[in-house]
Amino acid sequence: MTAKDIVYVNGSFVPRAEARVSVEDRGFVFGDGVYEVIRAINGRLFASKFHNDRLRRSLDGIRITLSGGDTPERFADIGRQLLKENDLVNGEATVYMQVTRGATTRVHNFPPSQIQPTVYISVARFTPYADLARTGATAISHPDLRWGRCDLKTLNLLPNVLASQAAKERHAFEAMLIRDGIVTEGAKTNFFGVVNGSLRTHPCDTHILPGITRSVLRDLASDAGIAVDETPIKEEEIPRLSELFLTGTTTDVMPVVKLDDRPVGDGKPGELTRRLQRVLAESLASGD
Ligand code: PDD
Repeated sequence: MTAKDIVYVNGSFVPRAEARVSVEDRGFVFGDGVYEVIRAINGRLFASKFHNDRLRRSLDGIRITLSGGDTPERFADIGRQLLKENDLVNGEATVYMQVTRGATTRVHNFPPSQIQPTVYISVARFTPYADLARTGATAISHPDLRWGRCDLKTLNLLPNVLASQAAKERHAFEAMLIRDGIVTEGAKTNFFGVVNGSLRTHPCDTHILPGITRSVLRDLASDAGIAVDETPIKEEEIPRLSELFLTGTTTDVMPVVKLDDRPVGDGKPGELTRRLQRVLAESLASGD
């Protein structure tokens, strides 16, 4: 929440307390929609082109067509406007954008074509996890109970919610999801791990979200001469991890020093993790 707390809903900028969405909205009834979370630093949206492309891909993936000249680029501009309206152009913030299939009488199949999508955009002050980034975080492993299109950033986050809660109940920062003996990603992050000296991460397929931070970091690593091997890490390889870190818009590069109560490597953030933390921090400070 910000002092002014102005949000955008379906064409209007309104105080959050006055913002209204129908109880028949398909986002509310079915979780029938998609979203994005973008990092804003001093009013600048980080990697906004990649977020726009992913939002377009998510919309296409669940067959929502934007109306009234709306585009992801327009939503990003609205996000920038909201940062100004809410006095968030200095320092760190996040922009949240959500599009649902609109509001109509409940029926499982798509509503008539004249029903327009519901668009909601808001901003919030953000404080990076600076202390945890220094000491390292803990994680648990958890079954990956999600559907077959995890590459789409949909509102259907129930398995992620349950996994996150399981992590919280064990005082852990993240739940590492395991599907068919493979570590896919975190409940709200992607991850990289070092096994036998090589830096690995899950390939971009339908079992993970193609994270923007993952992709930016992979390119930065490659520029720095660090090879990334996109061979999935098996559950049985976990004891051989010498380093492990999470990536995400609100997580940056977060070392994981303990997984299921066992230390990762020597139980301290690894050297490569530290290096990539610095590389991403520089990019966040300068890039767009
Ligand atoms: N989560 N994997 C999952 C399942 C995620 O939900 C996220 C992001 C990521 C990282 O993606 P990116 O680097 O593009 O943020 C990976 C957002 C931040 C959220 O749901 O709040």
